[in-house]
Amino acid sequence: MENLNFPVISLDKLNGDERKATMDKIKDACENWGFFELVNHGIPHDFMDTVERLTKEHYRKCMEERFKELVASKGLDAVQTEVKDMDWESTFHLRHLPVSNISEIPDLTDEYRKVMKEFAVMLEKLAEELLDLLCENLGLEKGYLKKAFYGSRGPTFGTKVANYPPCPKPELVKGLRPHTDAGGIILLFQDDKVSGLQLLKDGEWIDVPPMRHSIVVNLGDQLEVITNGKYKSVEHRVIAQNDGTRMSIASFFNPGSDAVIYPAPTLVEKEKNVEEYPKFVFEDYMNLYARLKFDAKEPRFEAFKASNVNLGPIATA
Ligand SMILES: [Fe+2]
Repeated sequence: MENLNFPVISLDKLNGDERKATMDKIKDACENWGFFELVNHGIPHDFMDTVERLTKEHYRKCMEERFKELVASKGLDAVQTEVKDMDWESTFHLRHLPVSNISEIPDLTDEYRKVMKEFAVMLEKLAEELLDLLCENLGLEKGYLKKAFYGSRGPTFGTKVANYPPCPKPELVKGLRPHTDAGGIILLFQDDKVSGLQLLKDGEWIDVPPMRHSIVVNLGDQLEVITNGKYKSVEHRVIAQNDGTRMSIASFFNPGSDAVIYPAPTLVEKEKNVEEYPKFVFEDYMNLYARLKFDAKEPRFEAFKASNVNLGPIATA
């Protein structure tokens, strides 16, 4: 269903009289939605148009045919019962940090490679800016989250480029099954004409409204742990559509693989609640997530609580 209250944040308002109101809006979005949509975020619109054009061209030239063959080989276009082990999506992944792999990804034109590299630099900057806004709202010192993500080699930053082609049986095959994101903060450039992304709020699936040139932001499991549950990673899914191919470029700004993730001590103390969230090495969490992505997140947290013994006591000072 549509929700007219979906939080839309105009980032340029942080520079003027409306700074306080804008920070409050971000706080409310983080506490109650796990999602918000950014406009006036500083990434030039004509550049985003170029990213979109090249992504769609690449899909048509290099991926569409392969996807059709895959669908045919699995008999997915004629399924009669719900498909629970596959998503109706065509994807590829890019890694930007700690080391870029863009030059190794096959089939990309030089221009597309160059543009995606530039896009990643802009998104990285935006992600770091957002982490500091979150710090401010959480009462954490500036740079706390960036440091928490750092590990020994800096954050992991990557992009999943996905296309959701028209699906003859959207009621039986999901574009992407419900899940929460494992990582830190996620920045999404999505199609403004073909919708499909929904989040779960108060037990109802709500559309994330497609808006031209916006960046959708959502919080992953790691921010839920670091904020000791003050912010939550929220379940979302993609509904396949009967017509039109939906483009989705999701960039994941995550902790470094050896970063140790645990609740920020001040957030645990301030609220005087029992420490609820575990401490773990990010890579171990990702290994678990790889097997359990489409399961609820709580058992993942529980699994690490049980193994906290091996990591020593959680610092509370
Ligand atoms: Fe996701």
